[in-house]
Amino acid sequence: MRTHRDPQTLADAPSVLDRMARILAARGIDRATVDALPDEPEPFSPEDALSAGMPPRYRSAVADHPLVLAWTRQVAAQAAAPSTGARRQVTTGPSLLMAGVTGAGKTHQAYGAVRVLVQAGIGVRWRATTAADLYAELRPSSDTDTERVLSAYSRVPLLILDDLGAAKTSEFVEEQTYRLVNRRYNAMLPTLITTNLRISDLKAHLGDRVTSRLAEMTTRVEFEPVDRRRLQRAA
Ligand SMILES: Nc1ncnc2c1ncn2[C@@H]1O[C@H](COP(=O)(O)OP(=O)(O)O)[C@@H](O)[C@H]1O
Ligand SMILES: [Mg+2]
Repeated sequence: MRTHRDPQTLADAPSVLDRMARILAARGIDRATVDALPDEPEPFSPEDALSAGMPPRYRSAVADHPLVLAWTRQVAAQAAAPSTGARRQVTTGPSLLMAGVTGAGKTHQAYGAVRVLVQAGIGVRWRATTAADLYAELRPSSDTDTERVLSAYSRVPLLILDDLGAAKTSEFVEEQTYRLVNRRYNAMLPTLITTNLRISDLKAHLGDRVTSRLAEMTTRVEFEPVDRRRLQRAA
């Protein structure tokens, strides 16, 4: 006849815990570390995930420029769910050309715009690079497939292209910028571009093929000529 036994919990069964400790020890894991693990995983919201992928300086940036906010609304309006019930994702949309002096707050608004979209519940696959870093990545080298690099920046739904026109110009710089801008222009993918240059200087720097496309695909956002970095240090 089978005897009834109360269900055992792990805490009531030291032998089970001892066996587990031996198994963990054999794998080089200290039981104390396992006991210290929280029962519930920390909630990891889309906004937390976004912050983790951002440079610390801009992790709490939230766009507040009226034209940048208007842009987020346009991009959000064009977002679409890949399947029923799925989160809406950035698809196509307009771009911004944010122009102003160094320290005016252009990069802050760019990262802040991505945050506003995520806060609105939109799924955003995005990348950010400075133009100078991009050209460095695209320089022919034996261990990188530069065509794949260009393709990744060309296809990502939302791109922050920071400090366009700041790198020394050359035929290479003009050509690579043209290839990237032209692909994003054709695909109508939203791009947040920042620059220190005036449009006339940008044209001299990158050529008419680039600036003509930028003129059509972007809304220009002029920043007040104030260097916030110097202001902050003076405060
Ligand atoms: N709206 C803002 N609120 C608070 N800090 C800001 C704001 N805009 C810019 N900053 C801060 O001012 C500094 C310069 O801004 P940044 O966006 O890097 O300038 P830019 O890209 O135009 O050179 C940074 O430290 C940034 O965090
Ligand atoms: Mg900047």
